[in-house]
Amino acid sequence: MRLLRPCQRALFSPNDSLSLFKSVSHQIRKVSSEGNTEIKRARDTQPSDKPFSKVYAADEWTNVTPSIEGLTRRRLLTNPAHPLSTLKQIIFSKFPESEYTRAEFPVSQVSVYENFDSLHFPKDHPGRSKTDTYYLNKDYVLRTHTSAHQVECFRDIITPGFLVAADVYRRDAIDRTHYPVFHQMEGGRWWSPEGVESVEDFIAKINADTEKIPRPEITIIDETLPFHDGNPIQQGQDPAVCIAITNHLKRTLEMVVSGVFKNVVIDDEALKDQPLQIRWIDATFPFTSPSWEMEVFWGGDWLEIFGCGVTHQEIFANAGYPERVGWAFGLGLERLAMVLFGVPDIRLFWSQDPRFLNQFVPGVVSQFEKFSKYPGTYRDIAFWLKQGETADSFYDNDLMDIVRESAGDLVEDAQQIDKFTHPKTGRTSLCYRIRFQSMERTLLNEEVNELQEVIRKGLTDKFGVELR
Ligand code: DAH
Repeated sequence: MRLLRPCQRALFSPNDSLSLFKSVSHQIRKVSSEGNTEIKRARDTQPSDKPFSKVYAADEWTNVTPSIEGLTRRRLLTNPAHPLSTLKQIIFSKFPESEYTRAEFPVSQVSVYENFDSLHFPKDHPGRSKTDTYYLNKDYVLRTHTSAHQVECFRDIITPGFLVAADVYRRDAIDRTHYPVFHQMEGGRWWSPEGVESVEDFIAKINADTEKIPRPEITIIDETLPFHDGNPIQQGQDPAVCIAITNHLKRTLEMVVSGVFKNVVIDDEALKDQPLQIRWIDATFPFTSPSWEMEVFWGGDWLEIFGCGVTHQEIFANAGYPERVGWAFGLGLERLAMVLFGVPDIRLFWSQDPRFLNQFVPGVVSQFEKFSKYPGTYRDIAFWLKQGETADSFYDNDLMDIVRESAGDLVEDAQQIDKFTHPKTGRTSLCYRIRFQSMERTLLNEEVNELQEVIRKGLTDKFGVELR
């Protein structure tokens, strides 16, 4: 069902400052790095052309591949006409500039401390594993989320709120909705009890801020409790303070989502006059407690938009302000942009094809017009596994890694199409079908054959398989 039709309306002034952070940098609090030595800036903070191998000494943790390193240099959000930039700007524009500093983090490399430890991630959290995260070496990763900048923002930014949008990296399969790089937005807001006489006054201060937020006209389904055993309040936090923070958080995000969706024109007569529906559900994140997710009913389905919660006190302590309290949220941009712009494949956001990029102008949500795909082509790869190995011991993802390294975005997908075990020798044979297709041009046969050869060689070198 198609709900959207082109909406050629500018949703914000294209002159909005892209980086308020820069203009307020003179106000940034200088914090001595003593006592905070773990955040020390051994990493670059400005983009550089130096290859990772020259900056980060490789060790047994290193698993960033050259194609991923290449993607860290693309910086899609710096193109103001890119749909992801427009979505970012629309969301940013809902937050008052005087209250929320827009911070920029153009470098995707962060320390393990920033990405995990500073955020109260348990040592054995699965997100830390090499199979999920790209490590530069044991101390540095490609950020897996924009939350990696929370402590820095809560520490350095003097307005009570901040917003960040940036590219993030996770090891993943490649298909229509998954890509190892995507974009997230992060926001945070704090209050300090400094100079406030009583808890009652503190709560009144937070509530007064909440009252300033326009009440959105949307249907809100909220059956969550303020906190409970499964979604607990933090030890030592005053329940009324926790509730006041939560009210501010929920009102803020409801206002944002209603503002963003209000600008989307709905085509379907039956749905046209229905108020936007959202719902709150309990969630769990290492860095917030209690935590929630907000979902929007859109196109017949509940679409998850925000993860959020009451910021864990450890994060404020790590930022050097243990007395503060507040909230944070995170949001993935691609899925929302796919819905709003009608982009059917996440890989299109990475396309350099003018037929994609020239369709969009800054600040405007317009419907993506499909252009004909360049022709694709199949190649099959069949091989015998080593004696004694079974199909279960060969992982599709290992093949995917080799395919991606050899052919990058020229591969649309790779699928197992056959497996059998020889009745006499007992050896197992697998066959994969690889579909080559470029978003930018027609591939030449010879070129595909060469890619295929590189993949075949990679498979024999890495897994000792015998090609058939
Ligand atoms: N970092 C989370 C993720 O990548 C998203 C998130 C959830 C961010 C809750 C937050 C938050 O700041 O409070 O899944």
